Amino acid sequence: MVHEILLWPDERLAENAAPVAQVDEELRTLVADMFETMYAAEGVGLAATQIGILKRVVVLDVSAKCPELKPLALINPRVVHQKGNQLFEEGCLSLPGEFETVERSACVHVEFVDEQGNPQVLQCEGFLAVAVQHEIDHLDGIVFVDRVSSLKRELVRKRMKRLKSNAKNT
Ligand code: NI
Repeated sequence: MVHEILLWPDERLAENAAPVAQVDEELRTLVADMFETMYAAEGVGLAATQIGILKRVVVLDVSAKCPELKPLALINPRVVHQKGNQLFEEGCLSLPGEFETVERSACVHVEFVDEQGNPQVLQCEGFLAVAVQHEIDHLDGIVFVDRVSSLKRELVRKRMKRLKSNAKNT
């Protein structure tokens, strides 16, 4: 099922998501819905927070940029190691049309649980590292415009206000 994606600013996007206690059929249905929602919106990543579900679940598909990487579902993802810095121009399904350069770690190791409930470790660099850090931020109530200057963020806020009022009027 395709869910509605919350648009920033929305107080629900600023909430801290709760860890998943049990990987069961209900959770796997959520993961399937999140993939469906992400693909329908032509995104490469989605956090459950963005559809108003405050659970620590992320889906990613960066295969367009990194063809060797399969779609990933990360449950309770946690960065356990990080190294270096990189700058990348990010976007987000909760901020359509907005792109800003954000500084992130160049390389991260992420522990998570997969859809079968098995613990995994993922080593990421480049675009995958950016995407993973961006999505884990969502679970902590942080969107990428929280990581740019307040001046830039206020300009984005004005454009989003216009976007939302145009959407309401059509
Ligand atoms: Ni996002």
